Amino acid sequence: MNDDYELIDSGDGRKLERFGDITLVRPAGQAAWHQTLPETVWQKISAGFDRKEGNRWHNRCNLPDEWTINVAGITFRLSSTDFGHLGIFPEQRVMWNWIRETVQKRKEQSGSVSILNLFAYSGGSTLAAAQGGAEVCHLDASRGMVEWARGNASLNNLQDAPIRWIVDDAIGFLRREIKRKRRYDGIILDPPSFGRGKKGEIFKIQDQLPELLTLCRDLLSDNPAFLLLSCHTPEYSPMILQNLLTQWFKDLRGTTDCGEMLLTGNPGVLPLPSGAFARWVAS
Ligand SMILES: C[S@@+](CC[C@H](N)C(=O)[O-])C[C@H]1O[C@@H](n2cnc3c(N)ncnc32)[C@H](O)[C@@H]1O
Repeated sequence: MNDDYELIDSGDGRKLERFGDITLVRPAGQAAWHQTLPETVWQKISAGFDRKEGNRWHNRCNLPDEWTINVAGITFRLSSTDFGHLGIFPEQRVMWNWIRETVQKRKEQSGSVSILNLFAYSGGSTLAAAQGGAEVCHLDASRGMVEWARGNASLNNLQDAPIRWIVDDAIGFLRREIKRKRRYDGIILDPPSFGRGKKGEIFKIQDQLPELLTLCRDLLSDNPAFLLLSCHTPEYSPMILQNLLTQWFKDLRGTTDCGEMLLTGNPGVLPLPSGAFARWVAS
């Protein structure tokens, strides 16, 4: 994979990553082992972020206001946010390749594919689906993030692709879509542990995941292709997500699988677990 992202090393609660020409050190509580590379390598960074005294960047002035990288065949605009995010979660890159291929195959069989992407952030999954030929509905409660994703669509020459850009609360939108009798062949959702809807509605994964899955199941078309659920909430292991999908989709013909999302680098670099995913795929 010829990507501009690489995990260089991790350990002692931190990760060292490369995003194009920029190298960063950021917190990674799950890196329970010791760093493999010497401290001198960790010192040669563009900038760092830590949460020791509140959220704080070090040497942020070394970072360009924005830069672009290509990951899994998608170009992303990156920029350092006050929360330490950059506009990409590279642990999703395996998913983006899978989404593109799965959509392409379905499109060859059925002629058209409609995909709903919830909690869609900067649009990696949306753009992978659009590259595969899907009509996509992209939803996020943050207007700024939807603008960021639209910008990424343009960077990928997908500005005229059939993508609906929605700023809304996920649960409220799903309820209204059911009333409007809209249906989707594939649904992708990456709910945060805690979030806020457009009007400040509180979203807590522990309280709302069951309802979210019920609404998503009701929104699948008569000939559904897949549902892909991922999250970064430490309490939700891959098997917990898979058990949820197995139970929720037991009446539909399909199979479930699950796995850890990983930040990865060159051969020999310890992969860094960064969340979990589970999939239901029609058979
Ligand atoms: C963890 S990020 C998703 C990461 C993304 N799927 C990716 O891998 O690139 C969570 C996103 O959910 C959005 N969000 C939080 N609460 C929401 C809600 N109630 N309804 C819709 N979106 C929400 C946030 O604005 C944020 O963009």
